[in-house]
Amino acid sequence: MRRPVIVGNWKMFKLLSESVELVLDLKPKVVNSHHCDIVVAPPFTVLKTVNDRLEGSNIKTAGQNLCEQTGQGAFTGEISGAMLKDLGCCYVIIGHSERRQYYQETNDIVSKKTRAALNAGLKPIVCVGERLEERENNEMEKVVGQQVYDGLSGLTEQELSLILIAYEPVWAIGTGRTATPEIAASMHKFIRSVLSKNWGKELSENIRILYGGSVKPDNISSLMAEPDIDGALVGGASLEANSFAQIVNYK
Ligand code: 13P
Repeated sequence: MRRPVIVGNWKMFKLLSESVELVLDLKPKVVNSHHCDIVVAPPFTVLKTVNDRLEGSNIKTAGQNLCEQTGQGAFTGEISGAMLKDLGCCYVIIGHSERRQYYQETNDIVSKKTRAALNAGLKPIVCVGERLEERENNEMEKVVGQQVYDGLSGLTEQELSLILIAYEPVWAIGTGRTATPEIAASMHKFIRSVLSKNWGKELSENIRILYGGSVKPDNISSLMAEPDIDGALVGGASLEANSFAQIVNYK
């Protein structure tokens, strides 16, 4: 059985005081939510404080990005996996479509970052998803299949077992236009078939695949009812304790 996981991606939102307010508000609202893993991905600047405030709770944290270089070095402005681990992070989001779109992250960079995350002992949440024109041209499986294959290339079975994949169709992010549960489930099934073909059936059945793109309290249950959807990567609705807690408590 794959354990559900709900991740809140705060993106470039929340100053320090706002972050503290949000997690202190969130904690009691999900304290009895034992049915899933709960993760928040705050900006780097507040990670230490947020981790301190979450100590001993059932909420884990993720970085939103990391440098593909391991160890320490002269890479001005970059944050390594070891630095995230040092602050108490367990996960890191990699290859989010905003990174691909605005910061030219390619599948090759995603693969290097995934390797760097694993080297640092972090669980990578590897994001994939097609753009609107790719869906309209019926190229979505080709694009997403390539993102999965390239992003995970060269990993051992043991490493792959630590990976989570997030399917986030770009046309659904921040638009209020959620993929229907059927559209999302069909892509999740396809991703699982790519995993199975390349790395074996057993592994494909163990990897958790999250859906992201305008997930809200009123659509989470229908998404989670799909057997191939193992969780959600939530943007806007994770910025407010009530809505994120409602999503966590979708059952
Ligand atoms: P929204 O939930 O705001 O559409 O964002 C989705 C997302 O990009 C999460 O990583």
